[in-house]
Amino acid sequence: MAQNQTNQNPEPAVLSVRNVGMSFGGLRALSEVDLDVRPGEVVALIGPNGAGKTTFFNCITGIYTPTEGQVTARPRDGRERRINGMRTNLVCELGMARTFQNIRLFPSMTALENVMIGRHCRTRTGVLGAVLRGAGTRREEQEVVDKSYELLGTVGLKTMANEYARNLPYGAQRRLEIARALATEPFLLLLDEPAAGMNPQETLELKDMVLRIRTQFAVSVLLIEHDMKMVMSLSDRIYVMEYGRVISTGTPKEVSEDPQVIRAYLGEESDA
Ligand SMILES: Nc1ncnc2c1ncn2[C@@H]1O[C@H](COP(=O)(O)OP(=O)(O)OP(=O)(O)O)[C@@H](O)[C@H]1O
Ligand SMILES: [Mg+2]
Repeated sequence: MAQNQTNQNPEPAVLSVRNVGMSFGGLRALSEVDLDVRPGEVVALIGPNGAGKTTFFNCITGIYTPTEGQVTARPRDGRERRINGMRTNLVCELGMARTFQNIRLFPSMTALENVMIGRHCRTRTGVLGAVLRGAGTRREEQEVVDKSYELLGTVGLKTMANEYARNLPYGAQRRLEIARALATEPFLLLLDEPAAGMNPQETLELKDMVLRIRTQFAVSVLLIEHDMKMVMSLSDRIYVMEYGRVISTGTPKEVSEDPQVIRAYLGEESDA
């Protein structure tokens, strides 16, 4: 029953990945990966350490060009485009924004400035114009400030707008990365372990925040996450990866009952 439910969304996928493979010399990091994200879905990608999850993100955001397969995106204009091999900044302009497993903020800039950097991918003047501050750019600049400030509110960081990013608590830095990603006006938000380093209360708040963002910004979300409680309660569908392959996919219930998944995770636990 539940399986049919997940196939009933008639809208075409916003992200469509077919038969993607990635080799680093002799190391086969991804093999024959198929994955779809449909409009408005929250999809999780889970799997043991080293399974290839971050490599997969890198393959769909232009950091790596997959050695095999096709990645296509359907941005808000509805025109499907092949994106494997596309440069990272173009992928971002197309509307795919990500956060990083190892936080990549500008540590010596304030929280507000970090969000403003994301925003400049949508302004005419860009970062250079903002630095030179010609008269014509001032109004646009004010809009960037206002919008960025608003986004800090979305992730609960308004009171920390003028703190240096490096001084923010870890959980706040992760939320700041989400605000920066949102500033680029994505149709697809890619989160690499957003709950890493967060305590259970922060993780719970993050879950609510992601659901709120999905509705408020009409985005689809693809997230990599190890926190199973969060994944199970947040996701519409889950893909499970092991040794670079998708070994299971379905609703949280289907995946958690799949013997292959249980084996993959029990194997990991007994290593710990
Ligand atoms: N640039 C690279 N060169 C060589 N090998 C790489 C490169 N990037 C990733 N790998 C390898 O690909 C495999 C998958 O790594 P990846 O970081 O994608 O795993 P992951 O599922 O994100 O793991 P984790 O849960 O620990 O973050 C690992 O064996 C890793 O060492
Ligand atoms: Mg990773």
